[in-house]
Amino acid sequence: MTNKKRVLTGITTSGTPHIGNLAGAILPAIQASKDSSTNSFLFLADYHSLIKNSKPEITHSSSFEIAACWLACGLDTNKVVFYRQSDVPHIFELAWILSCLTSKGLMNRAHAYKAAVSENKSQKNKDLDKGISMGLFNYPVLMAADILMFNADIVPVGQDQKQHVEMTRDIALRFNHHYGEIFRIPEALIPEQAGILPGLDGRKMSKSYQNVIPIFLSSEELRKHVMKIKTDSKKPGEKKDIENSSILNIFKAFASENETSSLIKLYEEGISWGDAKEMLFNLLDKKLKPYRENYGNLIEDKNEVEKILTNGAEKALDISSPLIHKVRKSLGIKKFSDLK
Ligand code: TRP
Repeated sequence: MTNKKRVLTGITTSGTPHIGNLAGAILPAIQASKDSSTNSFLFLADYHSLIKNSKPEITHSSSFEIAACWLACGLDTNKVVFYRQSDVPHIFELAWILSCLTSKGLMNRAHAYKAAVSENKSQKNKDLDKGISMGLFNYPVLMAADILMFNADIVPVGQDQKQHVEMTRDIALRFNHHYGEIFRIPEALIPEQAGILPGLDGRKMSKSYQNVIPIFLSSEELRKHVMKIKTDSKKPGEKKDIENSSILNIFKAFASENETSSLIKLYEEGISWGDAKEMLFNLLDKKLKPYRENYGNLIEDKNEVEKILTNGAEKALDISSPLIHKVRKSLGIKKFSDLK
């Protein structure tokens, strides 16, 4: 296990997963986890979610929903270490240790913190830290602990998380310089822009724009969503724009090359928007059906999900335990019998 490159990423346990997440993150990560030349680690960042949400029921249900979603979409837990962050207490111990050698100035530069401060500025609040928790401020340190606890080499994340991986590198270098070479220096892997799907209104599909198509809808609901996709006012018979069509761009993400070329041909021949939407609906319904069924089964069998995660936690702890011992020792937190 130790010689292979380690690929690790965290999944925030909030929000309802949509087909943009599916095409841009979930399916590529599942595909990557099948690569036998690497070891994959995927975890539910449930303690990170406390920063945005303080309702216990939501914390509990979101965590389950996201776990079930990844399993339903085909994650093979024999090939990846799939675990809950909260099941590995060593991560939180490491977060404290790292915070002791992270300069506050570095955290002052974190985008999320800076955005919260500038929001306070624009609201003309006297206290620029109003409403900002230590959790938000320390977020990058916890993320560094997530990554370093498993000595990850590669961290696939969205562009917005790149800075956090760079901070992790800084923190790891500082630790190694001071206490000895313990941590590998990780690298961020940013997916291509091509993975980003347009939403119902043509902007990027994102829950903050409320323009998403959730993964787990009934056929009926799915059709309703597809029918809401915004189009231009071209009439049936008129040639349709291939570059900027949300319908075509979503279609492409799930279709084979042949299916895509036949839709492009129909665009050139002037297919009506109604018919194009019907084709998109049929494709999505066919692709999402097995995921929907698996998800339904997992909702009925919550113990199965629990069992899988408990198993994943065991594998994770097998790695984190020896490493945290090494870290403690390097800091001078060790048995007195060793004292010279
Ligand atoms: N912050 C990440 C996000 O919002 C989730 C995350 C938490 C993560 N810990 C991580 C990603 C460690 C990669 C590695 O998407």
